[in-house]
Parts: sequence; C-alpha cells; structure tokens
Amino acid sequence: MGSIDRAREVAAREALKYVRSGQVIGVGTGSTAMLFLRELHKSIINGAVSNVLLVPTSTETEIEIVRLGLVNLLRYPWQVDHIDVAIDGADEVDYGKNLIKGGGAALTREKIIDYWAREFIVIVDESKVFNSIPSKHPIPIEVIPFAWSIVRTRLEELGGTAELRFGSGKRGPVVTDNGNYIIDYMPKSVINIEELERVIKEIPGVVEVGIFNGKRVSRVIIGKVDGSVITMD
Ligand code: A5P
Repeated sequence: MGSIDRAREVAAREALKYVRSGQVIGVGTGSTAMLFLRELHKSIINGAVSNVLLVPTSTETEIEIVRLGLVNLLRYPWQVDHIDVAIDGADEVDYGKNLIKGGGAALTREKIIDYWAREFIVIVDESKVFNSIPSKHPIPIEVIPFAWSIVRTRLEELGGTAELRFGSGKRGPVVTDNGNYIIDYMPKSVINIEELERVIKEIPGVVEVGIFNGKRVSRVIIGKVDGSVITMD
C-alpha cells in the first residue's frame, strides 16, 4: 500500500470514532470516503455498530453500499428526516476548514447531504491541506448543459481559466449524477473564498459550486503518511 493510501486509511478509521449505533449516516464520495465505508462495513459485520442507515452522496457510493451487501441499510434523502453525521472526502482543505470538492463530480449531492447533517466530518490525507484554496485543483462547478458556454464565459470574465470537463470511458463532456455538466474554474487569485462562492452561485445556469464553507464543517481529520492523525475542530 502506498503511503498516501495509508494516510487516507488512518483518517477513515479515525472517523469511525464519530459514528454511533442507531445513526443516520451520510456517506461521501471518492476513494477516501470508500475507505471509510469499508471500515464501517467491518464494524457492522463485527457488531460494533448496529441499526445505522446509510444515505449515499453519489451513484458510486450507492453501488458500493449495495456491493458490500448493505442494501437493507440504504436510504434516499426522502426516506429519512435527518442525517446525524456525514463523512466525506475533499480535494483541498485550508486552515479555516474551507474545502474544494467535486473532483469526482459529486459536489451537488455531497453539499446537500453534508450540509444537512448535524455533524459534517471531512477525511483527507495530509497532501490535501493548503494555506489557501484553490491551490492545485480548480473549483468544480455543476452547470445545466444548456448554459455551459455562457457560464464559462462569465467565469473567464471574473479572471482565470474555465474549462468544460471531459472524462474517460465516454466521448463528450462528463455528465453528473444529476444529468449536468462540470466546469473546472481556476481563478487568477482569490481574496475571499466565501465571496467567490456567492458570486459564482449567482450566475444563472450554475447548479452548485465546489467551494464548501469552513463554517459548515464540524471537523477535518487529516491522516498522515507516518500513520498519525491530526484533527481540526
Ligand atoms: C467527489 O466529487 C469529491 O468531492 C471527493 O470528495 C473528492 O474528490 C475526494 O476524493 P478522493 O478521496 O478520491 O481524493
């Protein structure tokens, strides 16, 4: 196992400490969230955790829940009246717990579930922590297909680069779980990330922005390659 994988795994394992029997759990998207799901699965099998319900933030996560044999625990948002805790990964984190999310194009469902949760816990490896964000990863923005070129132009007018995301395994743009496109926006400079989120959300055609406000994040668990963890509360 690579050292980054190990760092993600220790973060995922640490997150289990914040899960209790009887809870409704929002399950995030991405490789780190999948590690958490596998750890949770082990705890369910050995009886350490029981009577939980799992609300996925993407089709990827939904499939994994079913694949692990946990289909009887799977719930959609309309089947529960609250989420106790959501555990999710991120592409970048700053020291104010602000996040860039959406590398896997799941940002909209993630924000719906993560922000609804009474406790929103982020699990990352140490390579994802930066003084300011976005640093290496552009900001993913989900847009309705009809508006993609208009939104791209508006973003370029704000300064920086904006590109329609193309993927592998299919010709043409990446299509999200909601049937939309993704534009990856790298601003020239960011003075206030909260303000940038607001400005982008106001562009007609934008469904959601992959900037998650640190005030909405209860805790960030950072796994380190040496096997230790740091928690930002
Ligand atoms: C999914 O759209 C993203 O928000 C993920 O949470 C993010 O890409 C983290 O994925 P990894 O854990 O695979 O890096």
